[in-house]
Order: sequence, then C-alpha cells, then structure tokens
Amino acid sequence: MRVDPSENFAPVRAGRLALAARARGCYLRQVSAITDQDGIIESVHLSPLALVLSKADRPDLPLEIVNSAFCELTGYAEAEIVGRNCRFLSGELTDPTARAQLRNAITQRHPVMLDIVNYRRDGTTFRNGVMITPIYGANGELAWFLGSQVNLGSADVHALKHRRKDAAQVVAGLPPRQKQVLKSMARGLLNKQIAWELKLSEKTVKMHRALLIERLNVATSAEAIRIAIEAEL
Ligand SMILES: Cc1cc2nc3c(=O)[nH]c(=O)nc-3n(C[C@H](O)[C@H](O)[C@H](O)COP(=O)(O)O)c2cc1C
Repeated sequence: MRVDPSENFAPVRAGRLALAARARGCYLRQVSAITDQDGIIESVHLSPLALVLSKADRPDLPLEIVNSAFCELTGYAEAEIVGRNCRFLSGELTDPTARAQLRNAITQRHPVMLDIVNYRRDGTTFRNGVMITPIYGANGELAWFLGSQVNLGSADVHALKHRRKDAAQVVAGLPPRQKQVLKSMARGLLNKQIAWELKLSEKTVKMHRALLIERLNVATSAEAIRIAIEAEL
C-alpha cells in the first residue's frame, strides 16, 4: 500500500490506515496524532523497513513506538521493548567505538548511520546498518529520535558503503527542488518549517514531498529520510 505522508490525514483515511496496519500485523496507535510530525508516526507503523521512535524529552530515550519489521528483525515482541532504551540490542561483540558514536550523535542531535553488531532476542548476532536522526516538532523543538535498522548480512563487509553509493545515485537523480525538500526532511523538519526555509507554500512542499517519495520508490517519509542520510545529502 502506498501512503502519501504529505497529506494531513482525515479521520476516515486514518481509519483505513489503521485497518491496513492491523492487516500487516501491527497495531496503529495514536491515530489522533496523525497530523503530528507530517505523518512520521504513521509512516513508522506502515513501513516495511524496521523503524523505531523515542520521544526526545524522556530520560534515557526509551522506545515509544516500534514497528512490526523491527520486531521481526530483532525477535522481540512490542510489549517487551517499548519503554526500554535500544541499547538492549548491543552485547559483547558490539564495538564500543560504534556505540560511542551513536551516543555522541544523539547528544549532539546529529544524524548518524553506521554498521554495528547487534543481538537478536535469541542471542544470535546481525550486522545492523543503523540510522538515528532527530525529528522536530511544530514549535521547532526536538520531538523524537527516529531509528532505522537494516540487516546488512554477513557476506559483504562493504554492504553499508554500497547502500550509501546506491542512495547517492538515486538522490542525484532527483530534481533540485525535491532534493532541497528531502534534505530538509532529513534534518527532521516539518512541511511548515521547510516551506518557510525554502520560501515556498506548504502546499508546494507537500507536492514535492509526495513526488520525491514516488521517485525514490519508497512508501513513507521515514524511508525517504533514511535514503537521504545514507546518501549523506
Ligand atoms: C531511536 C533510537 C534507535 C536506536 N537504535 C539502535 C539500534 O538499532 N542498535 C543499537 O545498537 N543502538 C541503537 N540506539 C542507540 C542506543 O540506544 C544507545 O544510545 C547506544 O547504545 C549508546 O549509548 P550507551 O553507550 O549509553 O548504551 C538507538 C537509539 C535511539 C534513540
């Protein structure tokens, strides 16, 4: 199902999204908050990519929202991990330098993406191409940290490098305006803030957002943000 996160969803649409989300095995919470964060919360629930959100004002950033792809990847049920900091994924073989890089990026509110050894619930390891980035609220305050996880597999040590190259290529193919909008999205800005920065109407920003999502061949804003950060846009 293709979701247009540029829209402010009407209640009927929200109802349909909730049904679609349930059909995919995940429970869509906070439907009333659908106009928040330009659909980021819903895009997490509806994305095939593993995604999590932590509220930025909570001490130690416990997970607030996790999607079914994250549960599938890690083997944890939602109820076991909501309320816990995501460090439960790290363990003995996790590189402390990579972990410190994540910690520092979060403290400095910078996007970060790296290859880190993580552990599933059953104790097996996987190479996680993790991305974490700040998302801002309507008043310009830091609202969330969005995290995205990709299993890089064990065969190719350069898997993340290849993903970055592919992402850079696809982003290079975007028209300049869409690239600008994507860059602002990847900084965690909302349509209104992007409109103000680029001196465009909010409607025009929404149109560019919808077009670039189509062009990147993804379903949600959160996935587009990951591609932008992979591409180091
Ligand atoms: C939204 C979000 C998602 C995160 N996802 C992961 C992840 O997938 N894997 C991981 O090892 N750490 C992840 N982290 C980072 C850890 O929560 C933690 O910040 C990291 O282990 C470094 O801090 P520590 O040394 O205090 O544990 C995430 C953090 C946030 C806020």
